[in-house]
Amino acid sequence: MYSPGQSKLKVALLGTGGIATPHVTALRLLPGLEVIAVCDIDRPKAEAFAAEHGIPQVFDTLDSLLAPARPDVVHVLLPPAAHAAPAAQCLRAGAHVLVEKPFALYPAECHQLSTLASESGCHLGVNHNYLFTPVFQRFMECIRRRELGAIEHVSVQFAISMPALSSPPHTHWMFREPRNILLEWGPHPLSIICHLLGAVTQASTATYSPLTLSNGQIFFQDWMSSMDCERGCANLQIRFGSQNHSLSVRVLGQDGEAYLDLSRDILRVHLKRPYLRLHDLVDTLAVSASTLAQATKNLGGNLLGTAGLRKPFLAQDVSVHASLLNFYQALAQNRPPIASASHATAVIEACELMWASASQTDRKGAPHV
Ligand SMILES: NC(=O)c1ccc[n+]([C@@H]2O[C@H](COP(=O)([O-])OP(=O)(O)OC[C@H]3O[C@@H](n4cnc5c(N)ncnc54)[C@H](O)[C@@H]3O)[C@@H](O)[C@H]2O)c1
Repeated sequence: MYSPGQSKLKVALLGTGGIATPHVTALRLLPGLEVIAVCDIDRPKAEAFAAEHGIPQVFDTLDSLLAPARPDVVHVLLPPAAHAAPAAQCLRAGAHVLVEKPFALYPAECHQLSTLASESGCHLGVNHNYLFTPVFQRFMECIRRRELGAIEHVSVQFAISMPALSSPPHTHWMFREPRNILLEWGPHPLSIICHLLGAVTQASTATYSPLTLSNGQIFFQDWMSSMDCERGCANLQIRFGSQNHSLSVRVLGQDGEAYLDLSRDILRVHLKRPYLRLHDLVDTLAVSASTLAQATKNLGGNLLGTAGLRKPFLAQDVSVHASLLNFYQALAQNRPPIASASHATAVIEACELMWASASQTDRKGAPHV
């Protein structure tokens, strides 16, 4: 990825929790860099992580990491409320930064970080890995071939199975106040909407199915939002605590429509065809053949993975790898990544618009979890 003779980029991971493993796994597969350090306030956890992944240096504060290790890039993998200040500190120290989603809690923090990155000449990106799922990448190929024409409408349905919701105590950050859940999960579908239609300029949101959590907070299980964006309209439905876990996207273009099933890695594209009354039949045959081909390939891959004949397919690992590849390629070419600071700021602004416009249902008598 980097020119011959150039020394390897030194990468540090800040935070060694659940998401650090897909990051380190992806980094191992990227050329031209080495993971030189990890840092976590929980030092024994950081030490165990470093030992497992062969990472030489361990720190328990960012101050103690930055000066001696002098990383070129820091991945900020901390809980959402702890993203902004450490990201700013890394940029001030001259390190490029990749932040996990959500970029930050408030649009003002996102703007401050973007300004800091420009002033320090450092690159800043956010891991919006749903933009890098295989099915979304295949869909973007259709867009690049201009098959769908201009996109006019995007509709996203997100069902999230959340075992922690039905297992008190509700101590996780996402349960601390009703807005947090939107920042925890909203960036995934909103990054798709903003990528396809530009920034959200207006939103109208309704919340339903309130619950009273064990910490006394109200939690809305259903969110439905209609949005006006720079280049079209969108709607987003989220169900928290569903029996299923799925994300599907319907994209309506001037010359056709596409259905993306991110959970099953299936893309269906229906194009306008010049066959008059045979149109629907021809379209059904073409789409069925394509769906069967994708399903067969996915099944084959899964069977080979289960048999240990190839690496099992894990959507998160694959999408984080592709997301990091895009960040480091952009860094090498001195251009913004797809999930740039301005894109990620639009995503947090969209969360804010959704929250600000949410007409909240009557909370009285919300059942206790
Ligand atoms: N992109 C994805 O698909 C995806 C999936 C899971 C989580 N995430 C995001 O990744 C981030 C981290 O999530 P996680 O599940 O790994 O969380 P986690 O709670 O498992 O890990 C966070 C780690 O940060 C450490 N920490 C907290 N504050 C610190 C500080 N000030 N300095 C150093 N270490 C500190 C904690 O000790 C912990 O080990 C969150 O923003 C989350 O939303 C993204």
